[in-house]
Amino acid sequence: MDNRDLEKQIAAREAVKFIRQNDIVGLGTGSTAFFAIQEIALLVKNGLKIKGVPTSENTAALAVSLGIELLPLEEVKGIDITIDGADEFDEQLNLVKGGGGALFREKIVASLTKNEIIIADSGKLVKQLGKFKVPVEVVPLALNYVLQQLAELNGKGEVRMKDNARFITDNHNIIVDADFGLITDATGLAESLNRIEGVLAHGLFVQLASKVIMGKGTQTIIYAK
Ligand code: A5P
Repeated sequence: MDNRDLEKQIAAREAVKFIRQNDIVGLGTGSTAFFAIQEIALLVKNGLKIKGVPTSENTAALAVSLGIELLPLEEVKGIDITIDGADEFDEQLNLVKGGGGALFREKIVASLTKNEIIIADSGKLVKQLGKFKVPVEVVPLALNYVLQQLAELNGKGEVRMKDNARFITDNHNIIVDADFGLITDATGLAESLNRIEGVLAHGLFVQLASKVIMGKGTQTIIYAK
């Protein structure tokens, strides 16, 4: 395991300590959330009773393979705690998410969650968001309109590709990765993106995380509200 993976694992181990018996637990997506799901599976084997809510088809398959009982997202009215990763975060707990393309379900899960814990390696902390392009999930028919609207906001959008074809999300949409340069007003940009017809969701998560647990070397640093 390389250093970044060790930091992810240390952060995941710290985060699962916040899970309580009988909690409904949001299960994140990506290489960092992977470590949390492994830790949760271990706790379940040792008697912890929880129900998981997956943020992607990949996570659902992983959780089932590890023996974690799931609830379908559409049936859930509230989530006690979610552990998820991020592509970037700042000390105000604003995030960019969606590098893995799961941003829509991640945002719904985060919005239903009382305690949204983000886990990260130390490479994810930034002074200002925006080095990582903002993923935007777009209904395919609206692509050109959305690209024009992103340009109005000084964003340069590119359709995400995978294996020479458009990347398709779990919701059968496409992803536009939008470069806005460094983002000075994450709240304002998030609101502007929310107003574009054809945008299902975007990867700016503002005021959704309650804490970020970051692995740094062999320690963890907690950023909290
Ligand atoms: C998935 O769509 C994302 O939001 C992930 O949470 C994010 O991309 C972090 O992924 P890693 O943990 O693999 O860096």
